[in-house]
Amino acid sequence: MAVDAHAAEKRAAAEHAAGIPEPGMTLGLGTGSTVAFLLPALARRQLDGLVCVATSPATEQAALALGIDVRPFDEIDRLDLAIDGADQVSPGSWIVKGAGGAHVREKVVASAAERFVVIVSPDKLVEAVRAPVPVELLEFGLRATIRSLGDVRLRVGAPRSPDGGLIADWWGSGGAGAGAELDVDPAELAVALDREAGVIGHGLFPPELVHDVIVGYADGRTETLFG
Ligand code: A5P
Repeated sequence: MAVDAHAAEKRAAAEHAAGIPEPGMTLGLGTGSTVAFLLPALARRQLDGLVCVATSPATEQAALALGIDVRPFDEIDRLDLAIDGADQVSPGSWIVKGAGGAHVREKVVASAAERFVVIVSPDKLVEAVRAPVPVELLEFGLRATIRSLGDVRLRVGAPRSPDGGLIADWWGSGGAGAGAELDVDPAELAVALDREAGVIGHGLFPPELVHDVIVGYADGRTETLFG
């Protein structure tokens, strides 16, 4: 697909979502190229009393530059809403995030929100969750954690997360290649990753966390799934 058409899909989803926040709300801002279209659309609305938290330094800087009120998350104990992109949306509404390495903060923000809205282009809709699943690992005991996880690979050249974790990807117990369907149920995989003491977090977001998925199309239309 042409770059412009793909950008138009992301823009359509993001601009639709930018209409959801109301004055006085607390809002979590996600990370990535789809959220990059959300920020200016949100800034244009100039909502009174809107207070935001950001899931990454990149989003924080971009939002502040647009005049959006972004506060440290330790000043706020709940969010009305969070809006973020995703890498995969499965029919069971498990989503996968973390291509940009921000999945741990993104999950903390989504979990604190009463409503979590996901904005995607149609290529993110998958029939089943695929490899890889992003993870963030503690450096302490890294070799033991990697040995226990199986096929997990540190991302070459990736910066650490803002919380000091190492960004890596889990490629499937059977050595799945990129885009291969996982040979495990996402719920079981999420439990297994959560049990690993050296895993700070992973990019599998359960259906309970996802309230709406807004899919954008190049002609400006949008469709809301699970809403
Ligand atoms: C950041 O780590 C990710 O979770 C992104 O939110 C996700 O990869 C979607 O990014 P795009 O909107 O750039 O596709």
